[in-house]
Amino acid sequence: MLAWTTTPGAPGGLTLSEVAEPSPLPHEVLVRVEAFAPNPGDLAALPGAPTGSVPGWDGAGIVLAAAADGAGPRVGDRVLFLGLGARGWAQRRAVPHATTATAPPAAESERLATLPVPATSALRALRRLGSILGRRVLIVGATSAVGRIAVQLAARSGAHVVAVARDARRHAALRRLGAQETHTTLSSVASRVHGTIDMLGGQHLVDAYALLEPGGTVIALGHSAGAEEHFPSGAFVADPTTSGRSITSFFLGSEPDLAAEMASLAADEQLEVGDVDPRAWTELANWIEQGAPRPSGRVVFRVAHPDAPS
Ligand SMILES: NC(=O)c1ccc[n+]([C@@H]2O[C@H](COP(=O)([O-])OP(=O)(O)OC[C@H]3O[C@@H](n4cnc5c(N)ncnc54)[C@H](OP(=O)(O)O)[C@@H]3O)[C@@H](O)[C@H]2O)c1
Repeated sequence: MLAWTTTPGAPGGLTLSEVAEPSPLPHEVLVRVEAFAPNPGDLAALPGAPTGSVPGWDGAGIVLAAAADGAGPRVGDRVLFLGLGARGWAQRRAVPHATTATAPPAAESERLATLPVPATSALRALRRLGSILGRRVLIVGATSAVGRIAVQLAARSGAHVVAVARDARRHAALRRLGAQETHTTLSSVASRVHGTIDMLGGQHLVDAYALLEPGGTVIALGHSAGAEEHFPSGAFVADPTTSGRSITSFFLGSEPDLAAEMASLAADEQLEVGDVDPRAWTELANWIEQGAPRPSGRVVFRVAHPDAPS
């Protein structure tokens, strides 16, 4: 079968190569991969990946063989899947059934491929904030894939959603998703919040911490700004107005039992994933070489198969 393999010096550090078919372990299903949407984590992992390895965490497709242990999706099921052991940018993939969810048969693979990492991250991060009914929740980096889903799930959970995104032209869309306040920076957020999901890090994380109510939490989910965090002296000195505040890290790979929630997110037709920009998978390396631009939405690669060219 064909797969993208890491190749130092090649455009995007990848070549489309003939590789061995996957050999599923007893707890893995064999999937025909139809689409995948690279995540920032996929791209960040490329330089450190062993030469000749197949990158790619998540995607969508059709089950070719059920897991030998009898659990999980059945042959022919449309699925979305997630495996941080990578091997996803390929025509076929073995993936644990614990992170493979059955989707509605009519669901489009391009849409499904946008969901596994971002949507499950948003859901699990928000859950860490406890009940957010009637509480102010701040989403920093709200135009990100994780952020868009977090805005929607927080609004549905009854939170007063405060969205921060640097591009004001995208604020109206965030309001349509459920944000009640939108800001280009944290400096204009006037009232404190119960909890924050931060996709950016750097000064955003420092400022988000300062905006917490007593007992509030920042989930430091992402670090897209690529900047250091310097907390001013006294930032962690507590008084009655600042006691019990916390910052906690988050790693999706440590979250157990994601399949049921992935299935529910996949079946949720009200969940807006935003514009999808489908491309032929043969364009992947050049797209990465160009800096992985997203001029018109989330870039999704359609995997070609000899029996059904895309
Ligand atoms: N811990 C985990 O397990 C986990 C799981 C999932 C994701 N993540 C991380 O979470 C982050 C978001 O992931 P994603 O897939 O949602 O990312 P994404 O769709 O690529 O979005 C990245 C976001 O970062 C914003 N951004 C980048 N640099 C910025 C800067 N200097 N100032 C302000 N905004 C900036 C972009 O704003 P524009 O829209 O204006 O360009 C965009 O909204 C990534 O860092 C990812 O690695 C972590």
